Amino acid sequence: MTIAVVNQKGGTGKTTTTINLGKSLEQKGKRILLVDMDPQGSLGYSLGITDPKGTVSDLIYGEAPISDVLMTKEGMDIIPSDISLADLELSLVDADNREYRLKYILDELKGYDYIFIDCPPSLSLLTVNALTTSDYVLIPMLMEVLSLQGLDLITSTIEKIRGTLNANLSVLGILPVMVDRRRKLSTEIYEHIQENYDFHMFESQIRPNVRASEAPSFGQSVITYSPGSNSASDYIGLSDEFLKIV
Ligand SMILES: Nc1ncnc2c1ncn2[C@@H]1O[C@H](COP(=O)(O)OP(=O)(O)OP(=O)(O)O)[C@@H](O)[C@H]1O
Ligand SMILES: [Mg+2]
Repeated sequence: MTIAVVNQKGGTGKTTTTINLGKSLEQKGKRILLVDMDPQGSLGYSLGITDPKGTVSDLIYGEAPISDVLMTKEGMDIIPSDISLADLELSLVDADNREYRLKYILDELKGYDYIFIDCPPSLSLLTVNALTTSDYVLIPMLMEVLSLQGLDLITSTIEKIRGTLNANLSVLGILPVMVDRRRKLSTEIYEHIQENYDFHMFESQIRPNVRASEAPSFGQSVITYSPGSNSASDYIGLSDEFLKIV
């Protein structure tokens, strides 16, 4: 099963969620692959991959076999990316089947329970490639007014993909991230989405926690870096809820 972690807004916890939901599931014995579709390359970097042997661009260009690109960190397989993915996106603009390039690669890979794709903060061709090959979309979102505006855009993009490239796609849910439960606004926005959108809202919420922001500088998931932190327990709780839903 493949899950795209999507939000075209920057800094909504996509990369942090990809890594730590993946790690929580790995600890439960699941076989996990994490794919970075963001030219920023933060996913691999946050797991200590500073100089990848190969990247997702090499796979898409057909310039390297998967065995040259896969890395393993914390028991999870990783397909890293780097800035070359931005050039690739440009070169694909006029190419045939440009929306299916990631799908062609992932369809060849067997044996994973869950594949998570970390998307860039845009609804560009790279995100479209992720959506074309996914069963589900997970949307990490800050409970802020401006997030609501972004939600309509994600919704219409997903509808378009469902009607054209991938009829199998559905939204797994919205994950409230960096939620301060003492702030009334967070609760109001949560309720607004619940009442006005047809999406599942995860009951699990990810609290703001300094350990989550420190972990990438140590090249570790927060589960490994600080197992007793709020972030670790929030993501482990999320993995329980995830397994119940899927
Ligand atoms: N629960 C949290 N508490 C505090 N800081 C967090 C938390 N989750 C993530 N962060 C920090 O917030 C920043 C943004 O998180 P992250 O990189 O996961 O977002 P993103 O959506 O992947 O960003 P981008 O859109 O740039 O890819 C990072 O510095 C990260 O370490
Ligand atoms: Mg990111």
